[in-house]
Amino acid sequence: MAEQANTTLNRRDSRRSKRVLFLTLALLLLGTLALPLTGYLVTGVSSVEAAAAQQDASSNPRADYWREVREGNQGVTTTQGPEAGILIQNGGQNWRQIRQGPVTTYGAIGLGVVILMMVIFHVVVGRAKLETRTGKTITRWSMLDRVLHWYVAILFIILAITGISLLFGREFLIPVLGKEGFAAFAALAKPVHDYLSLFFTAGITIMLLKWIGQNIPNAADVRWILSGGGYFGGKHEPAGFVNGGEKVWYWILFIGSTAMIGSGIFLLFPNLDWTREAMQNANIIHGISGLLVIAGSIGHIYLGTIGNEGTLEGMVTGEVDEQWAKQHHALWYEEVKGSTSSAGGAARPSPAAPHE
Ligand code: HEM
Repeated sequence: MAEQANTTLNRRDSRRSKRVLFLTLALLLLGTLALPLTGYLVTGVSSVEAAAAQQDASSNPRADYWREVREGNQGVTTTQGPEAGILIQNGGQNWRQIRQGPVTTYGAIGLGVVILMMVIFHVVVGRAKLETRTGKTITRWSMLDRVLHWYVAILFIILAITGISLLFGREFLIPVLGKEGFAAFAALAKPVHDYLSLFFTAGITIMLLKWIGQNIPNAADVRWILSGGGYFGGKHEPAGFVNGGEKVWYWILFIGSTAMIGSGIFLLFPNLDWTREAMQNANIIHGISGLLVIAGSIGHIYLGTIGNEGTLEGMVTGEVDEQWAKQHHALWYEEVKGSTSSAGGAARPSPAAPHE
């Protein structure tokens, strides 16, 4: 009877927790999106004006002058800043060939291979099911952890879609949307990508710093990785609060997003007087690091949803079934159990507590 009452209480807590999470996220995202929409109105209009100005230039008699510059004659400019005298920079051609060549080709192949690997993994290994459900839950993620995770995840997905469509637009979108359709799409995708990157940077910096302590590698993680996380039939090595695989994802994200954000600053603020070569290099680093993190996120999203039963509910409600904790994070489960049964309460890696 008491157990039944507790289970009902758990379900009600979980529903309330989900509602608070959705409401907080909705408010945060609404606030975040207000800015790019305004940006679109402003940039959208100015890009139409720029297109008109460009059209005027094509019928401009000064075309002969520019032909001469391209042929190597140096022009005179009143502009200040590095490379002000260089009207046409040869490195631009190399950059375009690298961007439109290996980055785009191997990037598309790489993403395709990762998706194919996930499909093969799912067909061969399948979903890691829970042996049973105890109905008793343990708190795994606080409300702040969940808001941070979903805020960053939603912004990341929008940035990934807009970024990939700007990178691969020529190859994949122009054939579908036509040149004008793609131009209209890009006029929206670019300001959205630019503005949201600022909010993403703030969110992921807080999230990565908040979680860095629980992601320091140790000997148990090495054993977990060497045993393939128990996915391939071998022994499932016991893991702490975060397992070896999750730590690998964390550090891919840490290094990848540092490169993405660092290079993104060069691209977002051209007014800071970078040389053109620096901006071209930044563009290549931004593309490669973005593609690597997107590839990692495909694996992460698979494992966090269909790959493992019971994992997603932890990041949605904050609670996981005790059986899930035993199966996937045995060392953490023992620590939580040990700390709640000992009178003084042992040191714990997370604010987790059994919820019976
Ligand atoms: C729809 C997309 C996503 C889903 C369904 C998802 C799901 C999850 C789940 C269920 C967990 C908890 C795992 C556990 O309890 O052990 C988790 C953790 C995590 N997620 Fe996601 N996630 C998504 C997108 C993302 C994105 C885009 C990022 C980063 C940009 C991200 C970064 C992380 C990190 C770093 C952790 C591990 C926390 C730690 O290291 O302690 N997730 N995710």
